[in-house]
Amino acid sequence: MFQYELLYQSKESAARLGRFHTPHGVIETPMFMPVGTQATVKTLTPDDLLALDAQIILANTYHLYMRPGHELVREGGGLHKFMNWPRPILTDSGGFQVFSLARLRDITDDGVSFRSHISGSKHFISPEKAIDIENALGADIIMAFDVCSPYPCEREQVESAMRRTHAWAKRCKAHHKREDQALFGIVQGGLYPDLRVESAKTIADLDFPGVGIGGLSVGEPKELMYESIETIMPYLPTDRPRYLMGVGSPDALIEGVFRGIDLFDCVLPTRIARNGTLMTSHGRMVIKNQRYERDFTPVDEECDCYLCKNFTRAYLRHLFKAEEILGARLASYHNLHFLLNLMRQVREAVREERLTEFRQAFFAKYGYLDN
Ligand code: GUN
Ligand code: ZN
Repeated sequence: MFQYELLYQSKESAARLGRFHTPHGVIETPMFMPVGTQATVKTLTPDDLLALDAQIILANTYHLYMRPGHELVREGGGLHKFMNWPRPILTDSGGFQVFSLARLRDITDDGVSFRSHISGSKHFISPEKAIDIENALGADIIMAFDVCSPYPCEREQVESAMRRTHAWAKRCKAHHKREDQALFGIVQGGLYPDLRVESAKTIADLDFPGVGIGGLSVGEPKELMYESIETIMPYLPTDRPRYLMGVGSPDALIEGVFRGIDLFDCVLPTRIARNGTLMTSHGRMVIKNQRYERDFTPVDEECDCYLCKNFTRAYLRHLFKAEEILGARLASYHNLHFLLNLMRQVREAVREERLTEFRQAFFAKYGYLDN
């Protein structure tokens, strides 16, 4: 269980192809994981996700702990059964969400006290508690409870967040007992190369079955994120998956794979879909734009998803203008199709040793900057 099979290591780049085995099936890597924060990928059913061939989805410990509560999910048979998703699931630990969402946070070596962003109620999560919650939720892959520093951030603050992350990673590992769940450690260290390297070495030494790379895509220029990935890659185990957390723009997926990343997740495709932004082979399309009022062509002529095969830009624009919820659903379906299909093409390009060529052709059409 939790074997990472390295199928192919590219010669022209750090990119690789693999298969990660979990109790709910195999994940082909490199792979993008759609985000289902509240045990639902917003607007989509599990059947939709299977039709898209999503191989693993992500859920958030912080949100599910708050509502409906991890004990309720356990009582319902665990996340897979509760949400009727038969394939692998990964839960993020809540470390990141506590820092981005919760109010009145107070962090000590023990853990984090905070108030709920929903009810204002008081809570305390320690590394042990985070693992208890993730054990109750029952995902195939669970993440260690970490401290993510913001950007920009003074070195002293980044360093103390990193030291805490390391101490907590050890405590998470000691506390985790379910053998049917893989616990991944998380590398921090901000954009300080020496701290990143120290973090990568420390997390690698703890021998987790996979490694998350956290603290990136927090507002820094993308080039700095890419450099940071390159800096730590030599220190990460080659026989374990490497997961770049919170990254999901098409350009960053390609650049990440090029540098040896195996897994990605991001709310981006589904979040921008709900406000009417579509990812297409020619870049982003804002469907409410006046220019699409009488445009009776598909959103993306190169896309063979349900939206693009059956509806026009003018119709989708109408749905968004009229605030009809089908618009959000069709756009979410299309954007996930776009990213999952991009990753299929990327895997094929790696297999055929033409990722450099693919990357250039993709950017020539899509545009290099996507924000
Ligand atoms: N998601 C995006 N970035 C991070 C991070 O640094 N830590 C965790 N736990 N989740 C993330
Ligand atoms: Zn489409």
